[in-house]
Amino acid sequence: MKVLVIHGPNLNLLGSRESDIYGKRTLEDINGMLNSLADELSAELSIKQSNHEGEIVDIIQNAKGFDAIIINPAAYTHTSVAIRDAIAAVDVPAIELHLSNINSREEFRHKSLIAPVAHGQISGFGYNSYLLALRAAVSIVNEKNRGS
Ligand code: DQA
Repeated sequence: MKVLVIHGPNLNLLGSRESDIYGKRTLEDINGMLNSLADELSAELSIKQSNHEGEIVDIIQNAKGFDAIIINPAAYTHTSVAIRDAIAAVDVPAIELHLSNINSREEFRHKSLIAPVAHGQISGFGYNSYLLALRAAVSIVNEKNRGS
């Protein structure tokens, strides 16, 4: 099973960026944990990070060979019709995740344009949000394969 992991803007700064909100783990730490869990779950990951909306759209458009996407769209969660439309356009289930609980923060973060086209959303568990999202993705795909 192949899972595409997409980290949106500013997530390359994890570890030093507002660590009281986003935690002390770097993106490299999180990617390492994701790869270990993927091994355990027999999944193969392709991990991308981009600070550019159009590049994230391109990455999603090229997701056709993947079984699932896990995406932290970061600030684009709240603004990007283009990323939402890209997710809706490809027939690959996407799990939206956030390190922080976006619903308990500033009001502008409460609205996700991505959530209506995502399979589901995980928010507020720190780096564990990524691990939970990967577990959810693998379980969705396994269930789908068992049903067919
Ligand atoms: C975030 C939450 C967003 O509101 C914010 O813009 C981010 C990170 C999170 O993981 O908690 O950059 O997606």
